[in-house]
Amino acid sequence: MERINVTKSILPDREKFDRYVDRIFASGWLTNRGALVQELEERLAAYLGVKNLLLVGNGTLALQVAYKILNLSGEVITTPFTFIATASTIAWSGLDVVFADIDPQTFNIDPHKIEAAVTPRTSAIVPVHVFGNPCAVERIQEIAEKHHLKVIYDAAHAFGVNYKGRSILEQGDASTISFHATKVFHTIEGGAIVFKNSSLCEQARQAINFGITGPETIERLGINTRMNEFQAAMGLSLLDELDEARKKRKALFDLYNALLGERFQRPRWSEDATKNYHYYPILMDDEEQLKRAERALHDRNIYPRRYFYPSLDELDFLSARSDAMEESRDVSHRVLCLPFYHALAEAKCKEICDILLSEAGVKPLICIK
Ligand SMILES: Cc1ncc(COP(=O)(O)O)c(C=O)c1O
Repeated sequence: MERINVTKSILPDREKFDRYVDRIFASGWLTNRGALVQELEERLAAYLGVKNLLLVGNGTLALQVAYKILNLSGEVITTPFTFIATASTIAWSGLDVVFADIDPQTFNIDPHKIEAAVTPRTSAIVPVHVFGNPCAVERIQEIAEKHHLKVIYDAAHAFGVNYKGRSILEQGDASTISFHATKVFHTIEGGAIVFKNSSLCEQARQAINFGITGPETIERLGINTRMNEFQAAMGLSLLDELDEARKKRKALFDLYNALLGERFQRPRWSEDATKNYHYYPILMDDEEQLKRAERALHDRNIYPRRYFYPSLDELDFLSARSDAMEESRDVSHRVLCLPFYHALAEAKCKEICDILLSEAGVKPLICIK
């Protein structure tokens, strides 16, 4: 039986990729802001409709560089319902992580909870567009202005999402994105930061190259998190295939919706936003039901993932504050991301739905052949 994971990396047309690799071999230039990295940066900015986009080594360092360039200090408010990197980068940067609970309908950070968590030491908010679903960006902006806070969106999942007709990456002082191999667009490992302010983008461009600005000049504190030419080759060759892959994921999304009906709660999507069809999360009734469903799926060699589990406030090394984030814990103990990628066969999708529905006590609509 073929193993089905929660996702499968998209790979480009081999000949197209090889043509880019030929260029790398011809130039002998492998990294340090080569021609392909520059080309990808330009093409991505145009594709996404944004300015001040800087390619970096991964989505984790994208966050850390953004915190540094925006000069964060003291406490930073973020969501407990996210991938570990959102919060660990805050702690790793010597900042205090303060969690604000989520809205159980959208799974995104709740603006009311943000406001309640602000103290005189707060310097920033790091909200996450969880599963690519835009946060309450206007409300978050109001809170930020009222309390003089910076906003850095972790938009790791939000590639290609538009909000009110514009890229969601334009929100906040900066947005970061991941181009990890599991993402809808990837460069194997990679990421980007989109800055509101062009001079901050230039500072970050120096900072990701050790602060070096010329053969004999080092102008600022920096780190090494450049993208290399092979990563850029992957990105460039995938760019032309994204629309087709998105169509396939949309068809699969519609099929899951049709087969599962209203049986399982799903996050309420922002009405003003487009979807990138990145993940297919559902909420089971309780953790026992989730574990039963997982076991039944594993028996068929199908591996969904508990994204995100545990709720990060359950980790004792991240935050000095101990208040339990009840909504996040509840969602994280019940959420299951179903296998969802461009190449998933319809028959597998039906099989998965049959198993889930029967574990949830609903008579299967379709027989597994
Ligand atoms: C919400 C979120 N933030 C940050 C990251 C880190 O990105 P990367 O794996 O590119 O370092 C991820 C990775 O999946 C993520 O899901």
